[in-house]
Amino acid sequence: MTRPIPKEQGLDHSVDFLREGYHFVPNRRKGFQSNIFETRLLGERAICLGGEDGAELFYDAERFVREDAAPKRLLKTLFGEDGVQTLDGPAHTHRKRMFMSLMFPGNIDRLTRLVSREWERALDRATGEIVLYDTAQEVLMRAVCEWAGVPLAEAEVEKRTNEMRLLFESGTALGPKHFRGRQARSSAEAWIREMVEEVRTNRLLPNEKTALYEFSWHRDETGELLPADVVAVEVINILRPTVAVSIYVLFTVLALHQFPEARAKLVAGSVNPTWFVQEVRRFYPFFPVTAARVKQDFEWDGYAFEEGTLVLLDLYGTNHDPAHWDEPEQFMPERFNDWKESPFTFIPQGGGDADFGHRCAGEHVTIAVMKETIDVFLNRYRHTVPPQDLSYSFVDLPSLPKSKLVLTEIERRT
Ligand code: HEM
Repeated sequence: MTRPIPKEQGLDHSVDFLREGYHFVPNRRKGFQSNIFETRLLGERAICLGGEDGAELFYDAERFVREDAAPKRLLKTLFGEDGVQTLDGPAHTHRKRMFMSLMFPGNIDRLTRLVSREWERALDRATGEIVLYDTAQEVLMRAVCEWAGVPLAEAEVEKRTNEMRLLFESGTALGPKHFRGRQARSSAEAWIREMVEEVRTNRLLPNEKTALYEFSWHRDETGELLPADVVAVEVINILRPTVAVSIYVLFTVLALHQFPEARAKLVAGSVNPTWFVQEVRRFYPFFPVTAARVKQDFEWDGYAFEEGTLVLLDLYGTNHDPAHWDEPEQFMPERFNDWKESPFTFIPQGGGDADFGHRCAGEHVTIAVMKETIDVFLNRYRHTVPPQDLSYSFVDLPSLPKSKLVLTEIERRT
């Protein structure tokens, strides 16, 4: 005998999702006092999961698949088509290995050094004020293109950086902005596709262990090279999210400003930079949920899951779940001192295992770039945060401080 999943009444709750944003799923989990409930979104039935047990279930690849889970509008902008996010089973494991082969410590250090060099170039030149969101994107785009073996002509920097930004800003946007996102995807894919053809005809020779080289020559599980447009999607799966780390750069510098006590502990050494960065990733909003579909009928905890049902995992709410975090709405980096390292309670970039599941391939890159941000803005450069609107919304996606963080009086510490 199965029991009914707590169910939200009503024909469709997409408008509520847009209105409540990051709080849509946590509000209902709280209301139902349950880590599982049912709702209707975009005209279909959806089961929402959250908390440690919900996340553990969601990452069981025997029970859930990613095929047809992401809405078309996200594939046309944020993700691209036929990329690693949409694969399942051996095809996914094989493709994921291609990504993870780049994520070894020496290679991540190489990216961090490039980011460091680009920060110095940008900040040594800065006179007057900078808008940190914009500056960080250019810094990260220049660094990640070099890291990925992608030639980026000086005259193209602005255009290509804007394209990456549009990909992650336009996924859930409506109207003209969404359309600009689709154009950005076509343009960026064409740009990289041409390079893949050049690599394959030896007209462009990127180094080994760069994404452009490794992905262009990667063979799928049947021994075939990937279609050039799929290589382009996957190279962009390195460039775009690295530029999106600009959002966490912003929140890191914002946290240094908003939480002077935590900053003082960082300076005194009683809080280490890793805990600070982890708390930034736990505390601030980034992705509200991620999606999958039920692979075939099964029963869990007395609840029936039917094949094909859309399932959403509450990322933001799980990071703020009082069952797992003391005073979740307080910014307390020292909580990571004795953190139990569960792969299912701290999931800003997904949960489970990155090598075998869909957990983010770039988590170590993200952490390294954020720690570099602390070093740059705390130890190497002084800056002032002038009065501005630093509020951020829990509805906008991505959520950013309104002012995009203006900094003035930037100077190197001697
Ligand atoms: C800006 C900070 C980042 C955030 C918040 C983030 C978040 C995420 C999330 C939530 C997922 C999906 C997890 C799931 O559906 O189970 C994901 C997947 C992924 N991320 Fe990230 N990510 C970030 C940075 C990066 C970076 C820097 C890279 C690469 C250098 C990267 C590459 C990927 C890839 C390739 C996937 C697909 C993994 C798969 O489907 O197997 N991400 N990320």
